[in-house]
Amino acid sequence: MRILVTGGAGFIGSNFVRRTLATRDSVTPVVLDAFTYAAHPDNLRDERGAELCEVVRGDVRDAELVDRLVARVDAVVHFAAESHNDNSLLDADPFIGTNITGTVTVARACTRHGVRLHHVSTDEVYGDLALDDPARFTPETPYRPSSPYSASKAAADHFVRAWERSHGLAATISNCSNNYGPRQHPEKLIPRQICGLIDGRRPRVYGDGANVRDWIHVDDHNDAVWAVLDRGEPGRTYLIGAEGERANVDVVGDLLECFGRDRGDFDRVTDRPGHDRRYAIDPASTRALGWAPRHPDLRAGLAETVAWYRAHEDWWRPAAAAAEARYRRRERTLG
Ligand code: NAD
Ligand code: TYD
Repeated sequence: MRILVTGGAGFIGSNFVRRTLATRDSVTPVVLDAFTYAAHPDNLRDERGAELCEVVRGDVRDAELVDRLVARVDAVVHFAAESHNDNSLLDADPFIGTNITGTVTVARACTRHGVRLHHVSTDEVYGDLALDDPARFTPETPYRPSSPYSASKAAADHFVRAWERSHGLAATISNCSNNYGPRQHPEKLIPRQICGLIDGRRPRVYGDGANVRDWIHVDDHNDAVWAVLDRGEPGRTYLIGAEGERANVDVVGDLLECFGRDRGDFDRVTDRPGHDRRYAIDPASTRALGWAPRHPDLRAGLAETVAWYRAHEDWWRPAAAAAEARYRRRERTLG
């Protein structure tokens, strides 16, 4: 089986390629990635610097290139996206281009060649829940995106469904909760705070820090994507989550403990505009495929992630410096 993995040089996509190569002899991945700031060339290289699979540098909006690559494979797993909410608040254009136009480009090529598409989306398309709401997101929850990032992902999901209904595309969609693990860009909450703590800085928590995210280890997400590819039904949506709801202040407290610091040793900074309060996934649709998370203990997963960042300083230092410069500009803008 040959699969095209778009965005395979980023956080989740590169972990997907690595896990696929480690667990599935019969699968040959080909990566298409534009290598934006979010990608790292080492994500797809072994310790000696050799490429783990065929890697094509290119843009998912390049219709001719996407068409040529899709013609060579049996399925496409579409991870490529602009993925950071804070960036989407500063400039939505790359999100509109890559996340919407890029997804339509991939859907068109899959339709033309009769190739199965798995579109990787996010639980953020459902908007947010109140902290005291007992509800969780299900495949029936109405879309209510609140940031330019989540609006672009919601639009992409709708285009995939439209291509399915109107043009006969065979597609599944998964909407997953917040991922953590190795190779996540240091602009995101968990690696940002880990890299800062390694350098002796205090974590920076937006607003009151009571916002809840439903954390899942990246390998559990990717195993669930494989469960959908193997046993999912085209036309259906699968919600992926590991029942890992935790407030930001508690996640930051756990990280501080990993460094032997007091749980309250962080700074509060100006809140993110429109900051979603809580995400929570009911994973029944994916559990019904026989999938279950293998990393249910978030604190243990965080400790392993801290160990990975400690052992890979060369990987994150340049990206962390650039991300911190962007955050300093953000803090000056927001006050
Ligand atoms: P990431 O930002 O780490 O990686 C995105 C990758 O896409 C990068 O390698 C980048 O170079 C590539 N890319 C960006 N624009 C491109 C373009 N125009 N053409 C080709 N490649 C391009 O993101 P991630 O965290 O690995 O997320 C992957 C996918 O999973 C995204 O679709 C995201 O919406 C979704 N998702 C992420 C999370 C999370 O917690 N990170 C949760 C649920 C869903
Ligand atoms: P993030 O990793 O950006 O993911 P998302 O916006 O997709 O949920 O942020 C996770 C949570 O952490 C979110 O509630 C925003 C918050 N946050 C902070 O409190 N401080 C930070 O420095 C960052 C980057 C995020």
